[in-house]
Amino acid sequence: MAGTLENTNTKIMQLKHQKLLQHRAYVDGQFIDSLNGKTFAVFNPFNQKEVTQVADCGVVETKMAIDAANRAFSKWRNKTGIERSKILRRWYNLQLKHLEDLAVILTIEQGKPLKEARGEIKYGASFVEWFAEEAKRVYGDTILGHRSDKRIIVLKQPVGVVGAITPWNFPSAMITRKVAPALAAGCPVIIKPSELTPLSALALAVLAEEAGIPAGIFNIITTSQPEAVGLELCTNPTIRKISFTGSTKVGKILLRQSAESVKKVSMELGGNAPFIVFDDADLDKAVKGAIASKFRNAGQTCICTNRFFIQKNSYTPFIEKFSKAVQKLTLGNGLDEQVEIGPMITETAIYSVEKIVEDAVQKGANIVCGGRRILSNNSLFYPVTILSDVNPSMNVFKEEIFGPVAPVFKFETEAEVIQLANDTSYGLASYFYGRDHARIWRVAEALEYGMVGINTGMISTSVAPFGGIKESGFGREGSKYGMDDYLEMKYLCWGGVE
Ligand code: SIN
Repeated sequence: MAGTLENTNTKIMQLKHQKLLQHRAYVDGQFIDSLNGKTFAVFNPFNQKEVTQVADCGVVETKMAIDAANRAFSKWRNKTGIERSKILRRWYNLQLKHLEDLAVILTIEQGKPLKEARGEIKYGASFVEWFAEEAKRVYGDTILGHRSDKRIIVLKQPVGVVGAITPWNFPSAMITRKVAPALAAGCPVIIKPSELTPLSALALAVLAEEAGIPAGIFNIITTSQPEAVGLELCTNPTIRKISFTGSTKVGKILLRQSAESVKKVSMELGGNAPFIVFDDADLDKAVKGAIASKFRNAGQTCICTNRFFIQKNSYTPFIEKFSKAVQKLTLGNGLDEQVEIGPMITETAIYSVEKIVEDAVQKGANIVCGGRRILSNNSLFYPVTILSDVNPSMNVFKEEIFGPVAPVFKFETEAEVIQLANDTSYGLASYFYGRDHARIWRVAEALEYGMVGINTGMISTSVAPFGGIKESGFGREGSKYGMDDYLEMKYLCWGGVE
């Protein structure tokens, strides 16, 4: 394991744009303390040391932000798409200009390796670039009237004030992925970042202000009371749209809360991704894809592979190659350049991974590598772990692991593996490797998932529609479809055209 403790403070002192490290919430164009002066601590998951204290806002500050957003709404929506596009483009340029600082802040609060943090900042910025373009391309329709004196026109209009609730695993990109289409469509936003990772959100606010996003259009409520702030966002009638990325359990609560005022809602929830390797696959490429899809962010993404299904003849060679490759991965402080796997986010996260592995082992799984928490330096490290001889009775088959554990199942036929892969209430990402073209079509069509990676373990991009089906949620982020969630459709029926 690699890493040094002093690294954190040195890196903070070396930020080129010192203002990016903020500790106050951002409401109506101002960085503000909470009204009662309370703060909460943000910790570095590598050493569990406090990085800084951040304003602990509540319902009152959330209402202030909603009112500010509502006041600012009409001016923002009345700008032309081209005007909004220019502002978004400036925000994008600033994110790239300050990429290194943003990545360091992200790693310090989240733990992921710097290389991945840089990747996240670029990925997040790509949504801003994409939607800066889409801001200019909101099209309606004209429809032939149903009577000779009628004309029908379809308009797309901004939905209104948006509440965005974002997770700790992508503290920057999950904000831009929601905010960029909202702003492009003409909607103001109130963001509630995870209490574990508010610093990346605040850094984005600094750059939003520098880019010229007007006061009230981009607000951030930092809080250690996510339930209270979430409830206000979901029930306040001024908020017209909720966008959430997080667990299915919390998503269901937010859906119920949003139902009362019948809000437009999009939900990017949990997953239980299968990764299927057929006997005709290129095994070396499959192993590469397996590592990318499983160990990104120490296994803490919604689209990480949860279950590997390997066809009978490839089972043993796949495990051999996979375990050889993963044991070369370097764990440690994400701030050290050579590190490839960082710590997990919290003690609770480690505990739930430990439980899942324990359950599998008790029911007969074999630990090929890893399998036991690394106890050193007060750190939150779980080693990359491969489990063989797993079966569907184990919790690894049903539950989202959200950690660096790879259970490897054996299958014989295509029909069997499709049934196993779809035997889950989730439907976010899925992956498979094979060469037979007819089978590629059949399997891609049969998988009940919103996203399918074919001969690749990396599917995330701003140009494609990201999202799930079943209990993984609804709505799509990114691509030409990403604006739809922030636009209402209105039809004009124009009569008397004699
Ligand atoms: C997520 O884990 O929610 C997002 C992953 C991604 O965008 O690649």
